[in-house]
Amino acid sequence: MSRSAHPAGPRHADVLPEGHYFAPPADLNALDPKVWARTVTRTDTGAVSVGGLDVRALAEEFGTPAYVLDESDFRARCRAWHQAFGGEADVFYAGKAFLSRAVVRWLHEEGLNLDVCSAGELATALAAGMPAERIALHGNNKSTEEIRRAVEAGVGRIVLDSFQEIVRVAHIAERLGKRQRVQIRVTVGVEAHTHEFIATAHEDQKFGIALAGGQAAEAVRRALKLDGLELIGIHSHIGSQIFDMAGFEVSARRVVQLLADIRDEHGVELPEIDLGGGLGIAYTSDDDPREPHEIATSLTSIVTRECQAAGLAVPRISVEPGRAIVGPTAFTLYEVGTVKPLEGLRTYVSVDGGMSDNIRTALYDAEYSVSLVSRASDAEPMLVRVVGKHCESGDIVVRDAFLPADVAPGDLIAVPATGAYCRSMASNYNHALRPPVVAVNDGAAKVIVRRETEEDLMRLDVG
Ligand code: LLP
Repeated sequence: MSRSAHPAGPRHADVLPEGHYFAPPADLNALDPKVWARTVTRTDTGAVSVGGLDVRALAEEFGTPAYVLDESDFRARCRAWHQAFGGEADVFYAGKAFLSRAVVRWLHEEGLNLDVCSAGELATALAAGMPAERIALHGNNKSTEEIRRAVEAGVGRIVLDSFQEIVRVAHIAERLGKRQRVQIRVTVGVEAHTHEFIATAHEDQKFGIALAGGQAAEAVRRALKLDGLELIGIHSHIGSQIFDMAGFEVSARRVVQLLADIRDEHGVELPEIDLGGGLGIAYTSDDDPREPHEIATSLTSIVTRECQAAGLAVPRISVEPGRAIVGPTAFTLYEVGTVKPLEGLRTYVSVDGGMSDNIRTALYDAEYSVSLVSRASDAEPMLVRVVGKHCESGDIVVRDAFLPADVAPGDLIAVPATGAYCRSMASNYNHALRPPVVAVNDGAAKVIVRRETEEDLMRLDVG
């Protein structure tokens, strides 16, 4: 789908209320590899397959809605990140994007580390056998219990996010007779070009300690004095779904400057910097994300250059991609329930899920694409809004897209690029049962997170 402000663009598009026009893609049956997992293809039958499996068979066996995740694509993306830095950096997958025990095992096997931000994520990581020293604990308000469990388990690092936490982690570590490796998360004062809710490096927000006003320098001073802490580096995460490298460059430069200041003041050179995650992915054909090797080259060269200029040894770099690894590897498979044409407006296509399995459209005005996947169609393109089955009108999955005009109840449609922040932010709104995650690989499918049942709901409802 390409966006256009040109009224002559669409052949069959209705005028959208905002006055925008959308041109239908040249071929509605085509699947843009930018947004679909690597093994997704349309077969001779007209239906779509993934990992060698027909989506109709997957729907039959596992039901809909379902998140279908291409394991080989996930592993390939892990390897691409690992190799991008030539082994000279540590890649921490951000578990918040999507975490399950199978995912932890894949990460472990592919040589990645893991960033967790809650006791639940930590428990999942440990249960699936991720070595504690390859885990980093994040969070702006970690509980005492979360910190205790992390220190006790021996996590490789805790990323300190406030002055209180510096003392809290130090005390807990001392009480346990340990010296905890920590980084300090700083806010570098960069305005990331992304949605306000997912930008994190400007000063007026809850994360990190500001470089501005000497706050971060003061945090370093305090951390260096505490016996329970081993300060190993500085951390900066500027936001999420970012395409422009400029923010990362400014961030890297400011973090290196802080390292130089620390060296000047304390005579110590911290050995690590973490530049966070946040790399954007393609949700529609209009998005042009950077490849891991481009990002690695750019970050490594900035850090090297700045360190040389400051006379510092180049620290070990780490990064924390979440979305860029898992996002493109999965799609959500839905069955169409109703098709409602609204004269002069658009056609509403209702599916058997909605904002409970993908809140991103409602929360961030996120854009998605959609395709008919149970068959090919030669019908004309029709402007649609894909909506869910929840009891509110904001329950939109894909705001504006084209589907073939003959789309009908019983058809399977799929929304690509839903691997990140969809299952992990899914809810039970309207007592919806959260969909399963089905991993496919080389002709085999296995459920890695099962579909919720009414018994699951009842188990919590103890009144
Ligand atoms: N590191 C830290 C410290 C983070 O806070 C995050 C994301 C990441 C790494 C991974 O960022 P990624 O590479 O996945 O962009 N729910 C929102 C995204 C929130 C991101 C929170 N932190 C969404 O659906 O867009």
